[in-house]
Amino acid sequence: MNKIDEIKNYAQENHVPIMLDGGIEFLCEYIKKENTKRILECGTAIGYSSIKMAKCNDDILIDTCEINPKLVELARQNIETEGLTNRITVHQIDAVLFETTEKYDLIFVDAAKAQYKKYMEHFLGNVSQDGVFVFDNLCFHGIVDNPELTKSRNTKQLVKKIKVFRDFICTDPKFETLYYPEVGDGVAIVKVK
Ligand SMILES: C[S@@+](CC[C@H](N)C(=O)[O-])C[C@H]1O[C@@H](n2cnc3c(N)ncnc32)[C@H](O)[C@@H]1O
Repeated sequence: MNKIDEIKNYAQENHVPIMLDGGIEFLCEYIKKENTKRILECGTAIGYSSIKMAKCNDDILIDTCEINPKLVELARQNIETEGLTNRITVHQIDAVLFETTEKYDLIFVDAAKAQYKKYMEHFLGNVSQDGVFVFDNLCFHGIVDNPELTKSRNTKQLVKKIKVFRDFICTDPKFETLYYPEVGDGVAIVKVK
């Protein structure tokens, strides 16, 4: 088994949420097609999506923020094993506190689902001229569109917030949004006009 499959297995066995196959394949295709070079990720977990994105092209550079120190350690180990420490930098920080003057071609938001608007506002000045935000989990396992699928009050509140955010990026004239409900767990690519 290759290393990236081992990372994926570890995530599944230890209940670390990582991107679904369809979502990460779609994202990697986009990165290759658009020749994306500078990426910021909110939500590293154990480095699975960072490693997959870095492998799309040899000159991709990634900053990735993760709040959980245990996951940061595992991500750094995985990134080192993959020989990608010179191209992926893991920042142990709440993404909304990460300050940089860097401009990114792609800002991939995959951290706390209730905070998507906060991350977007925080990084609005860090998108390059033709850059985009990418958001995952906009369907949240189908529950956003079918809240009756859950009995949990917390999940009901969460999916309400995701729906408000999804409606915002899909209707606000400031954005050009392509929303793909059938990709992964619901992915959107958002360009700020
Ligand atoms: C869905 S996982 C990320 C999966 C990863 N992108 C992948 O596909 O391999 C979300 C991660 O975001 C982290 N997280 C949650 N809130 C955060 C925050 N405010 N800043 C940075 N990371 C955060 C969680 O600890 C969790 O590891």
